[in-house]
Amino acid sequence: MEPAETMVGYRSAMASTALCLLVVSSSVLVTTAAAAGARPPAMFVFGDSTLDVGNNNYLSGPDVPRANKPYYGIDFPGSVSTGRFSNGYNIADYLAKSLGFPWSPPPYLSLAPSSGRLVQAAVAGGVSYASGGAGILDSTNAGNNIPLSKQVQYFKTTKSQMVAKLGSRAANLLLTKSVFLFSVGSNDLFVFAVAEQNKSAAGQQRDAAALYASLISGYSAAVRDLHALGASKFAVINVGLLGCVPAARLHDASGACSGALNQLASGFDDVLASMFSSLASRLPGFAYSLADYYGLSEATFADPRAVGYTDIAGACCGGGRLGAEAPCLPNATVCADRDRHAFWDAVHPSQRGAMLTAQNFYDSRPGRYTAPFNFKELAQTSL
Ligand SMILES: *[C@@H]1O[C@H](CO)[C@@H](O)[C@H](O)[C@H]1NC(C)=O
Ligand SMILES: *[C@@H]1O[C@H](CO)[C@@H](O)[C@H](O)[C@H]1NC(C)=O
Repeated sequence: MEPAETMVGYRSAMASTALCLLVVSSSVLVTTAAAAGARPPAMFVFGDSTLDVGNNNYLSGPDVPRANKPYYGIDFPGSVSTGRFSNGYNIADYLAKSLGFPWSPPPYLSLAPSSGRLVQAAVAGGVSYASGGAGILDSTNAGNNIPLSKQVQYFKTTKSQMVAKLGSRAANLLLTKSVFLFSVGSNDLFVFAVAEQNKSAAGQQRDAAALYASLISGYSAAVRDLHALGASKFAVINVGLLGCVPAARLHDASGACSGALNQLASGFDDVLASMFSSLASRLPGFAYSLADYYGLSEATFADPRAVGYTDIAGACCGGGRLGAEAPCLPNATVCADRDRHAFWDAVHPSQRGAMLTAQNFYDSRPGRYTAPFNFKELAQTSL
C-alpha cells in the first residue's frame, strides 16, 4: 500500500506543479496585456434605456421616452440632461471607463447625418445604438424607440461606411477586437406583463413560453447578423429583477416585489443563457460573457447596507407612493442622498447603482456574476 500511495502522492504533486506553471504563465499573459493598456479599439452598444446615452433625443413624437430634462443628469458633469436615464452616468459609461475609454461611445443618431463623423467616432471608440423603451421585438413600444433589429441595421450602415473609408481588412480587424455590449429584453417583458394582467396563471404561462421563443429568435438573429458583419466579442447583460423596481412594487399594497414579474424575468434569463452557449458552440470566432444582472440585484437587495444603500424600494426622483406614482420631470421631488438609493426613477438604477453593476460585471470573479468569464477577460481574450 505504502509505495502505491507515495506514487499517487508524487504524481499528484507533479500534476499540481504543472498546473501551477500553467496558471503562472496565463496570469503573466493577462498581466502583460493589462500592462500594455490593451483596451479594445472600440465598443458598440445595443439595447434599451439602461445603456442609452441620447439616441432618443433625436426621435420625434410625444410618446418617445426622453431623459432630456431635469432632474435627469443632476449629478452629471455640468448637471446637464444628456438623454441618460440616470442622475449621472449609466452602466454603458462605467463599463466603457473600465475598458479604458473616457465614457460611453456617442449616440448613433448624433453622428449619422455625417458619414465622416460616424466613421471617425467608430474608429475612435465606437458607437451607441441603444434606445430607451426599445425591445427585442419591433412591436415593443413601437414607433417610440429604435428596436433591436433597427439598431443592427444602423450598425450595418456604420460598417459599410467604415469599409468605404478604411478598406475591409482594417474595418474587420477593428471589429474583431471590439466589444459588443447588449442589455435588452426588459421592455418586452414589461409590455407582456401589462397585456396579460387579467389572464389566468395557466394562460400566462403558456403565453410566456411563446414569448420567450420569439424573443430568443429575435435576439439570436441580431447576434448572428452582427457576427456575420464581423463582431466577435459579445458582452451581454441579462434581464434584472424586474419585479423589484419601484413601478412594479407600486402594485403591491405593502410595496413588496412582484414575484410574477421576477419569475417572468428569470425564465427569460434561463433561455438566454442556453441561447448564448449554443451560439458559442456553433459560430466560429465567437466569444461572450453573460452578466447576471438578476443575480447581482438579488444579492444587493438581500444586504443593501453592505453597499451603502438605505433605500432599495423607492424612486429618488418622482412623486407619490414609493416616488413611483409621478414621472421624474421638473415638477418632481428629488432625494438628497442619491448615492444611498438603488433607484433613480421608477424603473432605472441610480448612478451609483450603475457604477456598482459595471464594476461587478467588469472584474468580479468569473462564475459569480459573469460566465464563462468576466468582461475584462472578454476584452483581453485574443481570437
Ligand atoms: C384588466 O382589467 C382591468 C379591470 O377590469 C382593466 O381596467 C384593464 O384595462 C384590463 N387590462 C387589460 C390589458 O385588458
Ligand atoms: C408633474 O407633471 C406631470 C404632467 O406634466 C404630472 O403627470 C405629474 O403628476 C406631475 N408631478 C407631480 C409630482 O405633481
